[in-house]
Amino acid sequence: MSATPDVTAVADVLAGLSPDRRELFELRVARWWPDLHAGLAGVYPAWQVEALDARLLRLAATAFRDRDPELARLDMARTLDPGWFQSEHMVGYACYADRFAGTLDGVRRHIGYLKDLGVTYLHLMPLLQPRDGDNDGGYAVADYRSVRSDLGTMDDLRDLASALRAEGISLVADLVLNHVAREHAWATAARAGDQRYRDYFYVYPDRTEPDAYERSLPEVFPDFAPGNFTWDPDLGGWVWTTFNAWQWDVNWTNPEVFAEYAEIVLFLAAAGVEVLRFDAIAFMWKAMGTSCQNEPQVHAITQALRALVRVVAPGVIFKAEAIVAPSDLAAYLGQGEHHGKVSDIAYHNSLMVQIWSMLAAQDARLGVRALQQIPPAPASTAWITYVRCHDDIGWAIDDGDAAAVGLNGYQHRAFLSDYYLGLFPGSTARGEVFQYNPATGDRRVSGSAAALVGLDAAVAAGDEAATQVAIDRLLLVYAIVLGFGGIPVLWMGDELGLPNDESWAAEPGHEDDSRWVHRPRMDWAVADRRHVHGTVEERVFTGMAHLIRVRAASPYLDASVAAHVLDASDPGVLPVLRPHPLGSFLALYNVTDQWRPFPGWRLEGLGLADAVDQLSGHLVEVADDGNVWLPPHASRWLVPRRH
Ligand code: GLC
Repeated sequence: MSATPDVTAVADVLAGLSPDRRELFELRVARWWPDLHAGLAGVYPAWQVEALDARLLRLAATAFRDRDPELARLDMARTLDPGWFQSEHMVGYACYADRFAGTLDGVRRHIGYLKDLGVTYLHLMPLLQPRDGDNDGGYAVADYRSVRSDLGTMDDLRDLASALRAEGISLVADLVLNHVAREHAWATAARAGDQRYRDYFYVYPDRTEPDAYERSLPEVFPDFAPGNFTWDPDLGGWVWTTFNAWQWDVNWTNPEVFAEYAEIVLFLAAAGVEVLRFDAIAFMWKAMGTSCQNEPQVHAITQALRALVRVVAPGVIFKAEAIVAPSDLAAYLGQGEHHGKVSDIAYHNSLMVQIWSMLAAQDARLGVRALQQIPPAPASTAWITYVRCHDDIGWAIDDGDAAAVGLNGYQHRAFLSDYYLGLFPGSTARGEVFQYNPATGDRRVSGSAAALVGLDAAVAAGDEAATQVAIDRLLLVYAIVLGFGGIPVLWMGDELGLPNDESWAAEPGHEDDSRWVHRPRMDWAVADRRHVHGTVEERVFTGMAHLIRVRAASPYLDASVAAHVLDASDPGVLPVLRPHPLGSFLALYNVTDQWRPFPGWRLEGLGLADAVDQLSGHLVEVADDGNVWLPPHASRWLVPRRH
């Protein structure tokens, strides 16, 4: 088959469609199939590609034919507005459906709360049926085609997606494609001796190959799941398990696995999911002698799946969850031959890490240096910017970046752990250790944003001054992510300053996994305090809603314009420039607890001599000494004044 297949091969599938629908399918195939084909060809031998191509065309035609009219309309609208997800109106919210509102139906009943905040994107943590017992917060999926039984049914999911869509909110769902639960039907069949399914996994009869791989493999969960292979007595072999022993890595070298996931992707798109979060995407391809992360085949596979979705459901986008070194990150938004052809959005893990680093050190210089090394996101993509999520924070500080600003990377990482665990003198942060690795000295950190900025400690001590400082710090870190460009995503509870869940370890299966400390249950009585003047909840919520409102009214924040982190004039001030066709947008953030200057002459060079701060509505004032002075933890979003 050539790169563009002949759609007459699926004429039987399309027979009942109107001529213009058929023509639309043909045009989409002509437009996107070459990308799909090239993606497959980057991974599989030619004879397998040919067979897959034919199979996928049939799959695509069927899914296209059966596409729900409401979703088909969304596809058309988004084809006219391909940059929809880059807009300044986009604001994300991430939560566990059960912890937020009990069930999917419960979530539906709380859409108003999300609307009050200005949310347009809702990431519900894993909601497909996981294995029983511990399941890594749902990331050990036992069935991709049913919803977690305590949350509802597939129909509830479709209803929720449609209710959200009616309110301008896109539903985001996880697709775990690196592994399945040991209890998934594929794994069960493999354990029963079915060779077809054994080939869906990496199984080795003895330790020879596992040992050879282990020489270059890091450990993701060194604490509770050391090593990357697990002996399974039923299989009579060692199975690849990057994460927990009951999360079996699937074998993407097998084209059958590709075909299975192609179907699953289209199934979720048909349910009304608008953003698919590709979990642990970096790990999908293994190569001896490497860390088995970020291999080029990962991008080729993503490209093939992306093109398939563009044919069937162009309203749907992909999000890469690649928590990788800064130098590997940009590839997930498409570099080189994959430019514009892989994921549309990706987590800006480095920004997150650097924000916490700047806040602890009260120094922006390492952040400036590190962020300047990362290529800007391609113009058709966007970063997900965030300060907290359901996971821990790993201190991904590059040794070279640290050295460039006179720091020792190892010591700085140790400082950040100490600081956020509250062990560093003067720190009031209340993080918890996640996965101490004695071999590397690594200590990752769990904890809610409120706990990390010192709010938990200040409230517990009844210290009003410290409470205000902590709220200022919380709003500062959120101002940075909301003012960067891209889709800022709030982690549930941060909008209220919710503290750590101190009883996290009491739940069976959670005791070893401190990430549960920052996965609280929403207490709606506490949330209601956002209406009571002077409460912490009200101060945080009002501040956050203000930032979101200002952002939504600022076209400067459309993500098609890249953010440029500028050199720091003062070590305490982070400057971020967005050179928008409307004029410069310059964000200034004081990451210290002191007044700090920004030189007025730099504003002139950016056409901002006569600037207004969008956050306060005030004109910018240059003092007699030639500086703009920023109060402790202040944020400024400066744009040219309109006359
Ligand atoms: C992702 C998830 C994390 C999970 C891991 C394995 O990194 O965010 O929570 O443990 O993948 O699925």
